[in-house]
Amino acid sequence: MLPSISFSSRIPAKTGGGSSEDTLLYIGADTGFISQNIYLFCASEGLATVVRASVDRAALAKALGLRPEQRIVACAICGVPETVSCRAAMLRPKIASL
Ligand SMILES: Cc1cc2nc3c(=O)[nH]c(=O)nc-3n(C[C@H](O)[C@H](O)[C@H](O)COP(=O)(O)O)c2cc1C
Repeated sequence: MLPSISFSSRIPAKTGGGSSEDTLLYIGADTGFISQNIYLFCASEGLATVVRASVDRAALAKALGLRPEQRIVACAICGVPETVSCRAAMLRPKIASL
C-alpha cells in the first residue's frame, strides 16, 4: 500500500499563501496528481491499483513515523493483477525492484 501524503505545512508556501479553503483545494489537487502518477506507473508496469480513502490513518502514520503536521489524505493499493502469475511478475526486473 502506497500512502499518498499531502504536506499541509508546505502547501501555503508553494502557493504564496491564501485562505484555508484554498489550502484544502491545493491539498486535494496535490493528492490527485500523486494518485494519478501511481495509476500511470502501475499501468506502465502491468500492475493493478485502486485509491482508498478508508485507511487506519493513526496506525499508518505511526508506522511511517510521520510528524504531527503530516496528514495521510489517501492511499493506493498496488499489486499484481489476478490474471498475472506472481512468478511472471517477479521475473520482470522493474517490478522485482519495487
Ligand atoms: C478519493 C477516492 C477514495 C476512495 N476510497 C475508497 C475506499 O476507501 N474504499 C474502497 O473500497 N474504494 C474506494 N474508492 C474507490 C476505488 O478507488 C475504486 O475506484 C473502486 O473500488 C472501483 O474499482 P474498479 O473500477 O477497479 O472496480 C475511492 C475512490 C476515490 C476516487
